[in-house]
Amino acid sequence: MINFIEEIAKTISQAVNIDIDEIQGYIEVPPDDTIGDYAFPCFRLAKSLKKSPNIIANELKEKIDSSIENVAIEKVEVAGGYLNFSINKNLLIETTIQEIDEKKEEYGRSNIGKNKKIIVEYSSPNIAKPFHIGHLRNTLIGHSLYNMYKFLGYNTIGINHLGDYGTQFGKMIEGYKLWGKEYNIEENPIEELTKIYVRINELCKQDETILEACRSNFKKLEDGDTYCVEIWNRFKELSLKEFNRIYDILGVKFDSLNGEAFYSDKMDEIVSLLEKSGKLIESEGAKIVDLEEEKMGVCMIKKSNNSTTYATRDLAAILYRARTYDFDKCLYVVAYEQNLHFKQVFEVAKLLGLDEKYIKGLIHIPYGMVHLKSGRMSTREGNVIKVTDLIEEAITRVESIIEEKNSNMENKYENVKKIGIGAITFSNIATTLIKDQVFDWDTILNFNGETGPYIQYTYVRTNSILSCIDNIPNVKEIDINQLNNKEALRIIKLIYNFQETIIEATNKNEPSILARYLIDLAKAYSSFYNEYKVMSQKKEERDARVFLTYVTGLVLKIGMNLLGIEMPDRM
Ligand code: ARG
Repeated sequence: MINFIEEIAKTISQAVNIDIDEIQGYIEVPPDDTIGDYAFPCFRLAKSLKKSPNIIANELKEKIDSSIENVAIEKVEVAGGYLNFSINKNLLIETTIQEIDEKKEEYGRSNIGKNKKIIVEYSSPNIAKPFHIGHLRNTLIGHSLYNMYKFLGYNTIGINHLGDYGTQFGKMIEGYKLWGKEYNIEENPIEELTKIYVRINELCKQDETILEACRSNFKKLEDGDTYCVEIWNRFKELSLKEFNRIYDILGVKFDSLNGEAFYSDKMDEIVSLLEKSGKLIESEGAKIVDLEEEKMGVCMIKKSNNSTTYATRDLAAILYRARTYDFDKCLYVVAYEQNLHFKQVFEVAKLLGLDEKYIKGLIHIPYGMVHLKSGRMSTREGNVIKVTDLIEEAITRVESIIEEKNSNMENKYENVKKIGIGAITFSNIATTLIKDQVFDWDTILNFNGETGPYIQYTYVRTNSILSCIDNIPNVKEIDINQLNNKEALRIIKLIYNFQETIIEATNKNEPSILARYLIDLAKAYSSFYNEYKVMSQKKEERDARVFLTYVTGLVLKIGMNLLGIEMPDRM
């Protein structure tokens, strides 16, 4: 595919004799495409050329107009200190449709990540606790990043860092010992274990000796006590069964489920490395690293009863991952409430004697919380909303919408499921990560809003048009001029930028960029569809429009799949 930015940079560099790469980095997309398709801000050169941006812009334009030929460029104009370029639209259309015709489902895939390793850590729920909507958002965001990195050719490793260790398990074990027989754990593991957990916490508040017993249970677990390990294994097994059900429904997978407990035998090394660094100090019987100077408080490495902490396990994970995966980046998708924790852990990791490369590669991707607009669903369990209930409700609601619109649809249940889950997934990803997400059924299920179902609906519409024709028109026979209009060009331009968009989304670790893009593409198609009759009587009009319909559907599908969303075939 022709790289227009590179063509423009080439042209400018011939006029000023500055490195193409440097110029390429300065090229922008103007806010309004009536000004031009790309812009070069000449103030970037003002210092080195010792001239005003405006003068530079005029001189460049003159040189380019009079002596430099480049078929990719249609027109150059000066506005203020900017040089605005209009690209050759027919060339844009031609290069885009040829590329997508050739690549099809693989359109946008790249190998820029070749030989680079990226760990994406996501989901990471705590076992024996409900999988709530916060974990859901985490899971969906992480999974979409995982897909995108993979699509760009990175060697990507998805890790679910299960919360399967820590003092709370000492409590769980104690509660189970006391009342295990009263609860039907087989039937309803997480709900029942949560009840035990709430009850034992109450008792701990009243009775110091029980609390002590709990702490010692965790210590015993760390030391490999048979009874404690056995109960803990059962908790884990039962929880995973329930979590896996959710992952299956969502289509989410991991390459590794090494959670906190996996590092239980890898913690001594952390302690001794930190001791060697001279930064591990005793404080009231505990071992800590003092980060007050960095304004990060203190990081506890070992408690006074010698048991390890959440932070120690994260440090052990860093060491293990560096050695095992030799990662270039290790991304942690974890809510912003844990900002301080990750600052501390990344700071203390500098003391482990690891190569600088690994420390630089540690990146926390914080995301905001999920609030409900109406608290209606939450009643049964206090304020925790179970993800299984949420998914069920989505499906029921979509079912009744479909019942009204298209009640004798084929594959009804399959499609309804894809729409319901797609709506939840899209809404979780489409909000800029750091913002809190407001969850509201009417908003996320609106087939005409900026939603997953809207994109799915647009896709289904493209498909139903294609079902009226025998064959996708041959790309070589498409009359490019038919697509050289405002509405079609909007679509073509977006499609041309698809790979760039995925790259930007991964560079910023912000999958909402791809979600936004897909909304724009669906909207662009709707405007086109409203303006032009796709099944025109004139063959050259029909072929071009059908082809555009086909490639739009393709990109919508590839993009949604990257977000972890499947497309229904009817709506
Ligand atoms: N299990 C933790 C929780 O639910 C999240 C774990 C995040 N990952 C990590 N490496 N600390 O809050």
